Amino acid sequence: MNDYLEIKNLYFSYNDDNQGIKEPRKVIDNISFNIQKKSLLCILGPSGCGKTTLLKIIASLVPPSAGKVLFDGKVLKNPDAGRILIFQDDNQLFPWLNVIENISMPLRLSNINGREKIALDIINKVHLTGFENYYPHRLSGGMKKRAGIARALATSPDLLLMDEPFGSLDAQTRKKLHKLVLEIKEKTDLTVIFVTHDIHEAIFLATDIAVMGKSGTIAYQTKNNFSGISDFSVTGFSDFYNKLYSFIDEP
Ligand SMILES: Nc1ncnc2c1ncn2[C@@H]1O[C@H](COP(=O)(O)OP(=O)(O)OP(=O)(O)O)[C@@H](O)[C@H]1O
Ligand SMILES: [Mg+2]
Repeated sequence: MNDYLEIKNLYFSYNDDNQGIKEPRKVIDNISFNIQKKSLLCILGPSGCGKTTLLKIIASLVPPSAGKVLFDGKVLKNPDAGRILIFQDDNQLFPWLNVIENISMPLRLSNINGREKIALDIINKVHLTGFENYYPHRLSGGMKKRAGIARALATSPDLLLMDEPFGSLDAQTRKKLHKLVLEIKEKTDLTVIFVTHDIHEAIFLATDIAVMGKSGTIAYQTKNNFSGISDFSVTGFSDFYNKLYSFIDEP
């Protein structure tokens, strides 16, 4: 299988303003990796190491200082509906629109016909059938996340970039949403990059795992042989967990 998404020698610096003098500060330092279609790459890493910045570059919301992002062999320069970023800590729903209107919004913006049927189908996929007419304030945190994912999926993107999407939720709700992500992946051709602080979450969801170091590099990259598992009694699980932990916790 060909590599679907190629990240090649990516660098990025923010220009910090120090008393009127611009000083570049390196955040991404020569990152390269490839992702195959239908895989789910989890990116782990300490706070501030550049995970969100990396996703913004992959979504073409921020241009890299050097290097390139290729998708299906083509260099990406501008944002498009094929790559959707679900932002960190963002309540993505429009409070003045109900669930079906929120989910239909990107379809309306893209002038897609048969919007209601598409929206109802996605609502079914994220298990929100019966809540089509609810406004966001009447939904639980987990339901809002489901609706946000549904809206991101409405235009059938190829690549979904999820930036710590479930960080604020309780353990039970997170578990349900993990199952939902795996279910959606099973039913579609979606490729996912999922940023998280949580090693358990990464191991449960990922086909591949990359750990970013503090200095904006990829410290460790591996295939995940424990997808769908969160049980320390499974042979090799705790060694794998500890290995990932050691790279996140590097001094
Ligand atoms: N718009 C910006 N201007 C200047 N510096 C920024 C900007 N956004 C982020 N940074 C800095 O770049 C570095 C990387 O930030 P980024 O948000 O990518 O980290 P992160 O790994 O996503 O962190 P977290 O896990 O806390 O979300 C941090 O030092 C941050 O302060
Ligand atoms: Mg972040």
